[in-house]
Amino acid sequence: MVEIGARKGGEPIVSLTAYTALTAKLLDQDVDLLLVGDSLGMVLYGMDSTVGVTLEMMIAHGQAVMRGARTACVIVDLPFGSYQESREAAFRNAARVMKEVGCDGVKLEGGREMADTVSYLIRRGIPVLGHVGLLPQSVNMLGGFRVRGRSKTEADQILADAKAIAAAGAFAMVVEGVVEPLARRITKAVSVPTIGIGASPACDGQILVTEDMAGLFSDYRPRFVKRYAELGKGIAKAAGLYAEDVRAGRFPGPEHCFADPAGKKKPKKGDK
Ligand code: KIV
Repeated sequence: MVEIGARKGGEPIVSLTAYTALTAKLLDQDVDLLLVGDSLGMVLYGMDSTVGVTLEMMIAHGQAVMRGARTACVIVDLPFGSYQESREAAFRNAARVMKEVGCDGVKLEGGREMADTVSYLIRRGIPVLGHVGLLPQSVNMLGGFRVRGRSKTEADQILADAKAIAAAGAFAMVVEGVVEPLARRITKAVSVPTIGIGASPACDGQILVTEDMAGLFSDYRPRFVKRYAELGKGIAKAAGLYAEDVRAGRFPGPEHCFADPAGKKKPKKGDK
């Protein structure tokens, strides 16, 4: 975190989400930060929002990511309901994540209302990545996944949130789904790096959900996502070819079979 926190205004911080050991292993060499995001509820589990994600799910996926990550900083999302009740509950749950996952820190959503909790965690040794702007865990209150900060009042409130989280000691903050001028104002106003998602290049770094970036998750295609591959189409095509081969008796072929230890002739197709 020291390294991420020291990257303000420097080379852009590269971050992606990871939920599994396999993905973490594939991404580790190219990213500075891997986020075990609670977006896994929607991306992996098909939920409508992140609200139903549990602490146990985050811990299990955090442990998987730690098995694949080598050098990237690994941060685990605290899920909805695990930190809002009180700063003591937040500490208890965040400490459980830190102990059971062995990650570098936790992320939690919220602004001024969470500042006291953020500082409580940090004073007790838990590095915190903040998250302001569009807050997916609060979609039920905020009227859906719409871009924030179009009105002056809303922009001023989000700026105040960002300042409060930085003052509370967060080492960096995710700025999600805000208009570019607000992302610029926040990045200028806070002394810690901002990591944007749908928040323009004005931020000190960028994060995307890996499955969006790689074209694997196609339920929604937000405007801010750039697709660098079409893995979903690739997997569907591979599954179609496999199905054809199995149905036509072309798979498995001789090269996929184990030799007969007694050296008997291999049965030909059609032999009983
Ligand atoms: O849960 C998540 O993946 C996130 C990112 C979108 C920043 O919070």
